[in-house]
Amino acid sequence: MEKVKLLEVKNLKVYYNSIWGDYKSVDDVSFIAYEGEVLSIAGESGCGKSTLVDGILGLIKPPGYIPSGEVIFEGKDLLKLSSEELRKIRWTKIAYVPQGAMNSLNPVIKIEEQMIDSILDHTNISREEARKLAISRLKEVGLPVEVAEMYPHELSGGMKQRVIIATAIALKPKLVIADEPTTALDVVAQKGILQLLRSLKEDYGITVIVVSHDFAVHAQIADRIAIMYAGKIVEVGPIYDVFKNPLHPYTKGLISSIPVIGKSYIKGIPGLAPSPLNWPSGCRFHPRCPFASEKCRNVEPILKEFNSERYVACHLSR
Ligand SMILES: Nc1ncnc2c1ncn2[C@@H]1O[C@H](COP(=O)(O)OP(=O)(O)OP(=O)(O)O)[C@@H](O)[C@H]1O
Ligand code: SF4
Ligand SMILES: [Mg+2]
Repeated sequence: MEKVKLLEVKNLKVYYNSIWGDYKSVDDVSFIAYEGEVLSIAGESGCGKSTLVDGILGLIKPPGYIPSGEVIFEGKDLLKLSSEELRKIRWTKIAYVPQGAMNSLNPVIKIEEQMIDSILDHTNISREEARKLAISRLKEVGLPVEVAEMYPHELSGGMKQRVIIATAIALKPKLVIADEPTTALDVVAQKGILQLLRSLKEDYGITVIVVSHDFAVHAQIADRIAIMYAGKIVEVGPIYDVFKNPLHPYTKGLISSIPVIGKSYIKGIPGLAPSPLNWPSGCRFHPRCPFASEKCRNVEPILKEFNSERYVACHLSR
């Protein structure tokens, strides 16, 4: 079956201005999310994942700015829309579960009221209709209806995250973007949230983009994965292929950093992630790469097709 593009990010740059110069946090990123897939975005802390998502959704505030790029969704460049037009698309068509969202629930307002207020902010339906919608979404994310009458402190972390997802999908968007949806949850709750996100695709055909620094999360949920390093995407491919045969040395390092039962050591990646204020020359991974050559230090590798489904930015791949 032919894949249909839902979201296409083209050469997106998101910089933060400072007295020391620009933090080039997202620096020429291109990727496609297809209808009905779970696309994972992986990479170490600070590589630009949340900035990328904020850039896509038009949420960059000064000193952040977007020097160039396009974000095509249903044929429109989201970066060219007014903030009111964008606000409408977020929620109705694209739902966002921001990093740490479950901690933003108001502790003194019942869950149901918070959900209703969010729904009414974005629709013209009556309060009673919004209430019915909130209850049905709570059920859809596997929560008992009693949760509607509870306060956030009465819920576990996993339940709070389900409430956030229930609110995000209230209007059945085409795309859900979840940033670090399982961080700070225990492993059982993590598994539940990942199954829930996967079910959005399987039960409702929603495209899901999951952002996480935790590679193990992606292994459980993704159809395809894009690996970010130092503000760029360095590898893209179907999750199984990337795990079985990672092409980029950074991806190899990430996979070898996943703890395995029975193994007493983890290989990991030597050295520290570089600063967006001063990215290394050539290949940005060269100071940490065991295969770095003179060419790597001077010439930046571009993301190139390896086969019809896989892309990699490394001079070693051809
Ligand atoms: N408001 C800001 N002003 C200046 N720099 C910023 C700002 N927000 C983010 N950055 C910088 O941009 C880079 C990318 O940050 P970002 O939060 O996007 O990373 P991340 O990959 O989401 O990390 P994490 O896994 O920790 O969530 C970081 O180096 C950060 O210091
Ligand atoms: S281009 Fe060179 S430094 Fe960069 S990942 Fe490939 S081998 Fe390593
Ligand atoms: Mg982040």
